[in-house]
Amino acid sequence: MAGAGAGSAWISDPASIFYLTGFLANPHERLMALVVRGEGEAVLVVPDLERENAQARAHQVRVVSWRDGADPYRALLDALGDTDVLAVEKEHLTLSRLEGIEAGRVVDASPALRSFRAVKEPPELESLAEAARLTDRVTEAILAELGAGVSEREVATRLAALIHQTGASLAFPPLAQSGPNSALPHLGPSERRLAAGDLLLLDFGARHQGYNADTTRMAVVGRPDGEQRKVHQAVLDAHDRAIEAIRAGVIAGDVDAAARQSLERAGYGERFIHRTGHGLGLDSHELPNLDPGSTVRLEAGNVVTVEPGVYIPGWGGVRIEDDVVVEAGGARTLTAADRGLMVIAAG
Ligand code: CO
Repeated sequence: MAGAGAGSAWISDPASIFYLTGFLANPHERLMALVVRGEGEAVLVVPDLERENAQARAHQVRVVSWRDGADPYRALLDALGDTDVLAVEKEHLTLSRLEGIEAGRVVDASPALRSFRAVKEPPELESLAEAARLTDRVTEAILAELGAGVSEREVATRLAALIHQTGASLAFPPLAQSGPNSALPHLGPSERRLAAGDLLLLDFGARHQGYNADTTRMAVVGRPDGEQRKVHQAVLDAHDRAIEAIRAGVIAGDVDAAARQSLERAGYGERFIHRTGHGLGLDSHELPNLDPGSTVRLEAGNVVTVEPGVYIPGWGGVRIEDDVVVEAGGARTLTAADRGLMVIAAG
């Protein structure tokens, strides 16, 4: 705000509001805003039905609320005060909400907030570690109970139920992709039923105290064939090379290159069609990204996924994904479930 000459900031993303105040709002709630003023004052503007909850949970902020039927923008404008330059989260605030206050000049607060959030504090790391532990428990549980004949949708539904049983919520809707469907990285679950010889890709995560885990594990129905073993081993090698490359001070693009070169040596370079990983925290995709060619320098306290994959249209895909903390001496892996190619009973 000081750099941009902004007198006030309107923080709108519930994840940012939680990060800055400790109050976790329903993301689908009506107008909710954290106003930060140049003088160092913070005001949380919420609907009346959230007032008590906000007062109990938000730290170091004044809570003001508006009643249903009243104009919520009135309360927001009072909180914002007179300012020539307003900082907003351009990545989150909708145009219609911005029009609600007829703002003058606006500047973007998103990059600053994203960079604060990219470096995790110890309590955040504890929440991420717990989310990863709960996710590992679900990995073990689902693999123990799967069999041929169940549909992808049933597997995904079961994953969601197992995550809820741990007391966590879902980081994102679980993915269960079988056979050729696993070649399409973000395809949602279908009615396709597991059959002997199928690859099965499971991508899911638990969310604990707002913080997300994100993991991918692979299984085969019945005995894996030679190519399934070969591709899985190539992806596991790339995954391990990337993790070995991670420590505070390295360039994110070099971590991506470690995974990519490993898959190129194995003959699958062309089949690795996405980045090596992404940051993880209150959002299941945040900074820093492990993009090809990225010049971003990793810092101690960053948390990233490492998830190389090989996708062969018509055959299937293999991805192995873990969550790691960047530390001075290397990567500390949070997700620890067996990374091997699991076997599901065919009969
Ligand atoms: Co991921």
